[in-house]
Amino acid sequence: MEFIIKSGNPEKQRSACVVVGIHEPRKLSAAAEQLDKATKGYISNILRKGDIEGKIGQTLMLHNIPKTLCDRVLLVGCGKERELNDTKYRKILSTTIKKLNETGAMEAVSFINNINIKGRDTAWKLRETVTITNDTLYCFDQLKSKKDKTRRPLRKVVMMVPSRRDLAEGERAIVEGNAIAAGVKLAKDLGNLPGNICTPTYLADQAKALGKTYKSLTVKVLEEKDMKKLGMGSLLSVSRGSRQPAKLITLEYKGDKKNGKPIALVGKGLTFDAGGISLKPPTAMDEMKYDMCGSASVLGTIKAICKMRLPINVVGVIPSSENMPDGDANKPGDIVTSMSGQTIEILNTDAEGRLILCDALTYTEKFKPDCVIDIATLTGACVIALGKHASGLMGNNQPLVNDLLNSGKTAGDRAWEMPLWDEYQEQLNSNFADMANIGGRDAGTITAGCFLSRYTKKYRWAHVDIAGTAWKSGAEKGSTGRPVPMLTQFIIDKCKD
Ligand code: BES
Ligand code: MN
Ligand code: ZN
Repeated sequence: MEFIIKSGNPEKQRSACVVVGIHEPRKLSAAAEQLDKATKGYISNILRKGDIEGKIGQTLMLHNIPKTLCDRVLLVGCGKERELNDTKYRKILSTTIKKLNETGAMEAVSFINNINIKGRDTAWKLRETVTITNDTLYCFDQLKSKKDKTRRPLRKVVMMVPSRRDLAEGERAIVEGNAIAAGVKLAKDLGNLPGNICTPTYLADQAKALGKTYKSLTVKVLEEKDMKKLGMGSLLSVSRGSRQPAKLITLEYKGDKKNGKPIALVGKGLTFDAGGISLKPPTAMDEMKYDMCGSASVLGTIKAICKMRLPINVVGVIPSSENMPDGDANKPGDIVTSMSGQTIEILNTDAEGRLILCDALTYTEKFKPDCVIDIATLTGACVIALGKHASGLMGNNQPLVNDLLNSGKTAGDRAWEMPLWDEYQEQLNSNFADMANIGGRDAGTITAGCFLSRYTKKYRWAHVDIAGTAWKSGAEKGSTGRPVPMLTQFIIDKCKD
């Protein structure tokens, strides 16, 4: 999709379709008003007849309006002007894009970003247009032999800005929007690929491919024998039950000439989680192909950063494995020694994410990071607590947690903080090892965070549980690409510090 910015009047646009907003109840937006004046009341006449109320979700397509230069005008319901917010704006955008893609117009000139959203500037509104458009039109059909193609798909969106002064800032917004969209697309594609294609080796190859594309990126892959030398007994205990060899992928992005300390992103890359000997029930077990969405978000975010050439250093660390039942798999009660030296009693082999993450987190110390953020589809309990709208967030440094909460708000990819209090730690007590890998039914998301906190004492750290946000179930089953928008926003903001 091509995005362009321009400034000018709606009636003067030579285009297949001009898009203007209608507020509820039957109120013209500023651009609609302009169009109405130039067409001697054509739009207000239609509103009076009651064809569109202006509710969010409504659209009305008009053709060949006299005194305009465009083939069509699309009226889009924008709801009550005073009630507009980020979520409603995004809904308006996705409705607009769906409608445009269904009609024959392959290109459109949109004034939708001129409506007022509390606390949001033009650049933000433009960037959202780019990311929401890509999100709305995303389709995963690479494994279908017959693809249903839209006959005349939308190819180009011209976004109108109020004045020429907005153009420079607008261009940057498009660059950011395109970069985030590319990162989200990579994360979605990887998440949607099945476990028989997207294996640890496949993830490693994808990372290497990124390293080839971007000169500022260096990719290394550790094999099981390398991990053994490093003492990663916890990670390797999980992959022992699988025929697929585990990989530890590192990506080093150098954008900061002054060699500043890097931000580290550590992503769970469990390419299929059957539960191991603590086998999962069969219902929806297919969804456990998404158990690598943490790692997909690391790859997606790093791709976005490379595209924007941000002046900062970032490292990605991805422990990747399968979790399968097998004669050589972990057994409940087994005790393993992690790279940190701490021993772990594995009471449930299905709590494997933390077992691969703990060694990756210890390994990450070697990069002397400014801060570390791990991202993982870690607990079903997080889906119960927060549903699919908010990721679970915890950490050992409040400013870092606050920054992530704020980035999530800006990017429309929000998280909610959970209490990582000491009181919860004792749920991990073990009679036989330094800790157990599960903490019982109570506060399952927090005790998973507690487990990780024991491996992250040497740096500022935050943990994002994306079990609920990384994918959708039901009719729209698929990967969401989250939290690439939040992470990318966090890094964009860090560059301004
Ligand atoms: N990958 C799962 C967590 C998960 C569950 C993500 C459902 C998305 C949807 C993780 O490895 C797991 O199995 N966690 C267990 C932990 C339990 C055994 C303490 C869980 O949540 O049931
Ligand atoms: Mn599991
Ligand atoms: Zn898992």
